[in-house]
Amino acid sequence: MNEDGQNIKKIIWRVLAMLALILMLLSMFSGCPPKSPDEVEYLIGISQANMREPWRLVLMKEIQEEAKKYDNVRIVSTDATQNSDKQVSDIKRLLDYGVDLLIVSPCDAQKITPVVSDVYQSIPVVVLDRAVEGFDYSLFIGPDNTIIGKQAGEAVVELAAGEQARVLEICGDTSAQATIDRSKGFSYVIGDYPGIQSMQISVPTEARDAAEEQVLKYGQELENIDVIFAHNDYMALGAYRAVMKLGYQDIKIVGIDGFTGEDGGLELVRRGIISETITCPTGGKEAVQYAMDILKEVSGVPKQVILRSHRVTKENLDEYQARLEAQPVKADRIIQVGYAQVGTESTFRIAANNSVKAAAKDEGINLLSLDADQDQERQIAAVREFIARGVDVIVISPVVETGWDEVLQEARDAGIPVLLSDRKIMVEDDSLVMSYIGADFIEEGRRAMKWLLEETKSQKKPIKIMELQGTKGASPTTERKQGFEDALLTAPGYSIVYSRGGDFTYEGGKRIVEEYLKEHEWEIDVIFSHNDDMALGAVEALEEHDINPGVDVKIISVDGTKPALTALQEGKINCVVECNPLLGPQLMKAVGDLTSGKELPLRIITDEKIFTKENINREIKNRNY
Ligand code: AHR
Repeated sequence: MNEDGQNIKKIIWRVLAMLALILMLLSMFSGCPPKSPDEVEYLIGISQANMREPWRLVLMKEIQEEAKKYDNVRIVSTDATQNSDKQVSDIKRLLDYGVDLLIVSPCDAQKITPVVSDVYQSIPVVVLDRAVEGFDYSLFIGPDNTIIGKQAGEAVVELAAGEQARVLEICGDTSAQATIDRSKGFSYVIGDYPGIQSMQISVPTEARDAAEEQVLKYGQELENIDVIFAHNDYMALGAYRAVMKLGYQDIKIVGIDGFTGEDGGLELVRRGIISETITCPTGGKEAVQYAMDILKEVSGVPKQVILRSHRVTKENLDEYQARLEAQPVKADRIIQVGYAQVGTESTFRIAANNSVKAAAKDEGINLLSLDADQDQERQIAAVREFIARGVDVIVISPVVETGWDEVLQEARDAGIPVLLSDRKIMVEDDSLVMSYIGADFIEEGRRAMKWLLEETKSQKKPIKIMELQGTKGASPTTERKQGFEDALLTAPGYSIVYSRGGDFTYEGGKRIVEEYLKEHEWEIDVIFSHNDDMALGAVEALEEHDINPGVDVKIISVDGTKPALTALQEGKINCVVECNPLLGPQLMKAVGDLTSGKELPLRIITDEKIFTKENINREIKNRNY
């Protein structure tokens, strides 16, 4: 911020200090203990959905505690009392108040989306817990509620111990996305156990006493219930009170949240009131930390941070609490990282490898890097070599998604944590991987198709699409295809008529077009290429056959490398969906956090754009790979 801006802010602050007492009386705002207006460099506005749910109180407390660690930060918060109209006006008021950044935990994601979008045009916005629609925000931090539901399902399966079991699922508001996702994950797991039957009730207020009342209504029917799964620990406590009153002591209870303090899930587990709680992190601490990175314009801040949840029972409670309280300690030796990279198949990959190497150097990390040349066997051999050498952390950019369970178990047995960079895997036990750092490939595919829908909305249908797929079995291939097809299914008149794999290489893309032309007249309207190199190979093949790329056929690509952006500028490609290869800094930060004992998020998703003829001249200047 320039000097004038600073002065204006200081003046505003002096005025605000005078108003503080009045504001307190009106109890409209609440925040940290006052700091002198002169000290305040950053004013962060917090718009809370409500301050009655215990989860939100914990969130606020975490934000306040974290903000206290920064001398130059002041927070101002509002309580929307679970009323979306009030939240919209709260946000506008915070903006008028001169906040530098807004942290919002929406009452209703859909209703809050337009105002968040508006605010994002002028200041950064961090969205917590419930994602607003679209991507008009700086960062989203939240839990993965489907995984939480799955973990609850696993808990119930274990409590049922292979027997027939009847489960009562106590949901919150059934229209809330969190409830839907938790139930989905839960049903997914118990669906594999025909002996487990479940029924569902809803407690829209999600409160303890309301849950107690509802369960009491069951009366003697509770006799048939073996396990209760409540979507939060407070409803779990309400359910416990009801079953005790009715005398059904044997019913086991699983809750969600896992907070400390009296009546928090951890305490309920300790007292044997519930058998297990699944932790649901609030993200308050992370919100302030990332907010500070955003305000200080630190580069590489992700777009989404999805936090990890844990299953906590009496058996691991002490260990879990000890981990919560432990202070991270930076390792006082040179950290060794083994990096099993994919190969050099594309411009993206070369940029990704260079980014990792440069970031490791900057952080003083010793990087052992092995190129697998797109061969999973070689990658597995590389991981085994890293294990034998006893590195501190292993990073894998997996060629394909499956076939990793055994070698990851070997890494775990050797006590070496594994991070995934750029590509995902599918394993039985998700905890074999500490974190995924990379793109949202489904969203990339969706964006490609959405652009096409907009671009061709007034065009004659049907529209025939050729798809150039990446490496078979690789997560970007599967997920880009999935995202693209999901969006395609919403619009009649579009169909993929030819789809082949090109291994993400220039030659692969060129070959697919040539093979098509050997057998067909050119009748394709659009090429959707899973990466830039294949798109550029296709451009060359088309030109060799006097077909004008970008004009006779629209081309959509993914990555955003300089050669593809240049082709876009020349009109040979029409749209490029970005996939960011510059993962090195985030990855090395994660390595640092991991080796100093910090818990990593489940997923760290990179920030990405879309390039079209409208913005290419501006954007291409910043591209150096
Ligand atoms: O995993 C990301 C993909 O891998 C990139 O889109 C492609 O260019 C690369 O080879």
